[in-house]
Amino acid sequence: MAAKDDGYPFVSEAEIIRAVGVTKRFGALVAVDRVDYVLHQNEVAGIIGSNGAGKTTFFNLLTGYFTPDEGRILYKGQDITRATPRQRVELGLMRTFQLTATFENLTVVDNLVLAFFRAHRSSSLFHLLFNTRRRFRNNDKILLTLETFELQTLAATEVRHLSLGEKRRLEIAMAVLAEPQVLLLDEPLAGLSDSEIKAVLAVLRRRIGQQTILIVEHKISQVEDFLQRLTVMHEGRVIADGGYEECLRDPAVRRSYWQIDVDAEQAPNLTA
Ligand SMILES: Nc1ncnc2c1ncn2[C@@H]1O[C@H](COP(=O)(O)OP(=O)(O)OP(=O)(O)O)[C@@H](O)[C@H]1O
Ligand SMILES: [Mg+2]
Repeated sequence: MAAKDDGYPFVSEAEIIRAVGVTKRFGALVAVDRVDYVLHQNEVAGIIGSNGAGKTTFFNLLTGYFTPDEGRILYKGQDITRATPRQRVELGLMRTFQLTATFENLTVVDNLVLAFFRAHRSSSLFHLLFNTRRRFRNNDKILLTLETFELQTLAATEVRHLSLGEKRRLEIAMAVLAEPQVLLLDEPLAGLSDSEIKAVLAVLRRRIGQQTILIVEHKISQVEDFLQRLTVMHEGRVIADGGYEECLRDPAVRRSYWQIDVDAEQAPNLTA
């Protein structure tokens, strides 16, 4: 990889998202402070940081729910800084939970059918489908999705009867059916039990290599053996970016994220 003038690695076609000097203020508070970030094709990347680090704000800047006060956001080289969330979805950029609301009184399989048609067909057909969705329940893509996300036995269950972990798997399955370029997930593991976390990560693992995934998580311990690359935010800034161990060793990360007295300790403890 050759370095360009701006110091970024140059990886033309493999680059999906680039944020350049992105800043978002809420009054006097700088929630996201001149953040530079690059996400590459098929990366499984995570952004972590303590409470109030700016992770969700940055996520909302990428998805278009906020517009930055300064800086630019590029999608495959195209400036999307001012594009709406819907426009970004149409570019194939991403799906988020906000855009994949489930229908509580419909079954799992019918939610998948509706998600598939919402993503791939015209809206008039989508409305028609409310009456004719039965026909599409055996569609190959729907069957494969049920299998990948381990929802086969729940296919005929109404969403309101699902556990939180099952519902999270369905939400991610619905997002994936839209075949997004980037699957962006803000705290997909929040509120789940340890076994539900394992189940969600297991189905996400099956997407590795076919899907660019960016996860924002508060707790690193839950995603440490899932993520290939980590970015650590603190007080609105990126303080470390790279492999897991590299980030753990970083003095700034140890000081702010784990609140370790770096000067007082001798050798870094990688199991912290
Ligand atoms: N809509 C808003 N209006 C005002 N302040 C906000 C808004 N959203 C976030 N903030 C503030 O911006 C800072 C960053 O918040 P953000 O939600 O991005 O942090 P986070 O890293 O996602 O934290 P958490 O781990 O708690 O989810 C915080 O100080 C927060 O109070
Ligand atoms: Mg958050």
